[in-house]
Amino acid sequence: MDKDRGKRLAAEEAAKHVERGMTLGLGTGSTAAHFVDIIGARVAEGWPLKGVPTSEATRRQAESLGVEIIEPHETTVIDLAVDGADEADPQHNLIKGGGAALLREKVVAYAAKKFIVIADKSKRVTALGAFPLPVEISPYGWALTVAAMRRTLVEQGFQNAKLELRSIDGNSVKTDGGNLIIDCSLERINDPARLEKALNAIPGVLECGLFCGMTDMIIYGDEDGVSVST
Ligand code: 5RP
Repeated sequence: MDKDRGKRLAAEEAAKHVERGMTLGLGTGSTAAHFVDIIGARVAEGWPLKGVPTSEATRRQAESLGVEIIEPHETTVIDLAVDGADEADPQHNLIKGGGAALLREKVVAYAAKKFIVIADKSKRVTALGAFPLPVEISPYGWALTVAAMRRTLVEQGFQNAKLELRSIDGNSVKTDGGNLIIDCSLERINDPARLEKALNAIPGVLECGLFCGMTDMIIYGDEDGVSVST
C-alpha cells in the first residue's frame, strides 16, 4: 500500500471543509504536513486563512508557505482543526503522540469547533493499544510520576504494562514545551475513556495520548481513494 498517497488523499478530502477566513488548527506529523501544504497553496491563491500550529515543526512549515500564524494564546476561536493519528477505533477514539506533540495537539483539537482526523488506512484498528500509548509528563519528579502511572495502570488491569521514557541515542526526548514522553505498551485498551481519565488524574501527567469523544470525522486514505467515518 502506498501510505503516502493515502495520506495525501485524506488531506485533500479534509481541505474540502476549509472555508475562506477560517482559523485552522494545524496538526503535526507526516499526514498533517500534507494538509499544511494544501493550506499553503490556498494562501498562495489569495485565501485569507490563519493557522494555529501544534508544534514548532508545523510552525516552520506553515510560515515557510506564507500562512499567517496565530499563537494559541492570541485566539479563543479555532474553526477547524485537522491532525493525524497513530491509531483510531470505530468509536473515533484515538491514540496520538507518536510525534511527541500530543499536549499541544489536544489543546488545539479540544478548542476547535470541528476536529477532523486524517490517516492512511493502516491506522484504523478494531481496538486501540497495539501502538504504545504516549503520555506527556512534567520533567519535575518524573520518576515519581512514572511510579504513580505504573500503579494506576495495574489498578486499571494492565498488570503487564511496560513503561519507557522515550529517548533517542540515550538522550530523553523533550517535547516543544520541554516535557518528557513515557510510552506505555499496553497491547489492548478495552475502555479508552476510563483509562484517559485515570492517567490524567495523576499529578505530573500533563496529558495522555488517548483522545476520546473529541473527533467529529475521520478520513482514511489509501491509493484508491478515501473513506469517511462520521
Ligand atoms: C504527533 C501525532 C501524529 O499525528 C501521529 O503520530 C501520526 O503521525 P503520522 O501522520 O506521521 O503518521 O500524534 O504527536
